Amino acid sequence: MIDILVLYYSRDGATRRIAEQIAAGVESVEGVTARLRTVPPVTSVTTALAPEIPLEGPPYAELADLSQCMGLALGSPTRFGNMAAPLKHFLDGTGSQWLSGALIGKPACVFTSTGSLHGGQESTLLSMMLPLLHHGMLLVGLPYSEAELMTTSGGGTPYGASHHAGGDGSLALSDAERKLARALGKRLAESAKRLA
Ligand SMILES: Cc1cc2nc3c(=O)[nH]c(=O)nc-3n(C[C@H](O)[C@H](O)[C@H](O)COP(=O)(O)O)c2cc1C
Repeated sequence: MIDILVLYYSRDGATRRIAEQIAAGVESVEGVTARLRTVPPVTSVTTALAPEIPLEGPPYAELADLSQCMGLALGSPTRFGNMAAPLKHFLDGTGSQWLSGALIGKPACVFTSTGSLHGGQESTLLSMMLPLLHHGMLLVGLPYSEAELMTTSGGGTPYGASHHAGGDGSLALSDAERKLARALGKRLAESAKRLA
């Protein structure tokens, strides 16, 4: 089995909704499984914000997940046009994986969710690619053969999957956002399979 890590942070659930579609796209490819993992929130003081094990949803990622996976989908809500601190905090702890080259040559893709339509989806996606390039990963985006890239009135970009959740986070994934997230997961899984 080829194992794809779908690693994300989501405070209010919007990014999690895309993660689940990406995982469905990954698992639409025979012989490939998705391992959904999240990261805990962070604080500037040494106070625990969350229990050791999340009360709901997937478990917290361990560094071993990065070494074991054969591909990575990385997702975060947009925070001021950039990825959220909890995901950055997790990535900042991956020095030993960088030193050992654990992620070199593995395919990766990125996804995000925003409150406003033009609030920085592309900048967040591009910024999330930077640490993955330092890790030597092979980035996978969405080609324009995916028709929804031209017709979406919400999220969905060639740089990765995205979701416009609305100011109060209440917007469901649109059909186009769902199709593009699934297509990205499928493309990542097919890439990992070919590389394997
Ligand atoms: C501190 C903070 C900064 C944010 N910055 C942006 C932003 O730059 N652009 C935007 O469109 N939405 C921004 N948002 C809204 C979130 O990106 C949006 O609500 C997202 O869908 C939340 O994802 P989640 O439900 O997975 O937590 C921000 C939210 C917070 C709390």
